[in-house]
Amino acid sequence: MKGVILAGGLGTRLSPLTKITNKHLLPIYNKPMIYYPIEALIKAGITDIMVVTGGNHAGDFLRLMGNGKEFGLKHINYTYQEGEGGIADALSLAEYFAEGEPICVVLGDNIIEKNIIKAVKDFGGQKKGAKILLKEVPDPERFGVAEIVNGRLANIVEKPRQPKSNLAVIGIYLYDSRVFDIVKTLKPSDRGELEITDVNNAYVREGTMTWEMLQGWWTDAGTFESLLRANVLVAQTGANNG
Ligand code: DAU
Repeated sequence: MKGVILAGGLGTRLSPLTKITNKHLLPIYNKPMIYYPIEALIKAGITDIMVVTGGNHAGDFLRLMGNGKEFGLKHINYTYQEGEGGIADALSLAEYFAEGEPICVVLGDNIIEKNIIKAVKDFGGQKKGAKILLKEVPDPERFGVAEIVNGRLANIVEKPRQPKSNLAVIGIYLYDSRVFDIVKTLKPSDRGELEITDVNNAYVREGTMTWEMLQGWWTDAGTFESLLRANVLVAQTGANNG
């Protein structure tokens, strides 16, 4: 399985912090944000990794991470997303890197306390489809929200005004190689982006989407509140614990 980290976008919700740098290079406690998704993949045994970045400071990723040696990697791949076409648009750039293999996609601003080894292993035993991870949150309207009916995932709604559950879809996704064909069928949402929730709902409709609850805390870091929370959580317990 290969790993894809999505670190494009302009991070406008964090302006002015993101005026002169990329959101994913901002500090979370003692490391730049992008280190956490990279370490999450490596802890899960995924070492063939591509980082999708964008914006005006993409060169700084190369200066920071170089060839990946500091992480114990033999090599690290980079590509560049023009504009801010959405998470699924950023993902489409990894098609040639994936070369028909299943992929684990991690959003560059998502941080987890524990690890995803079990989900990755379980997905390895799944013949086709996709897998998402869910976490109970107090503010589901900020996220993709899962609707579970009789234990089955019925639908995912992106940032619902009136969420049907408190189960957020976290930004770690496992996909089979058909994900890139699905992305090609998408139309931009009202916010002008190709939505990862539309990709996930295509698998839900097909009946090949599985889900697991994430153990340990999870946070994004794309708003001032969540950036602060991420710093505090990492300082208190550390992230990506074995
Ligand atoms: O954090 C989990 C949530 O992430 C999910 O629950 C939502 O379903 C999903 O849509 C996403 O929501 P956000 O609105 O918080 O995503 P955001 O625009 O902050 O983008 C998250 C990361 O995705 C960002 O850190 C970098 C990457 N990204 C985003 C965009 C819009 C790209 O690489 N390119 C892009 O064009």
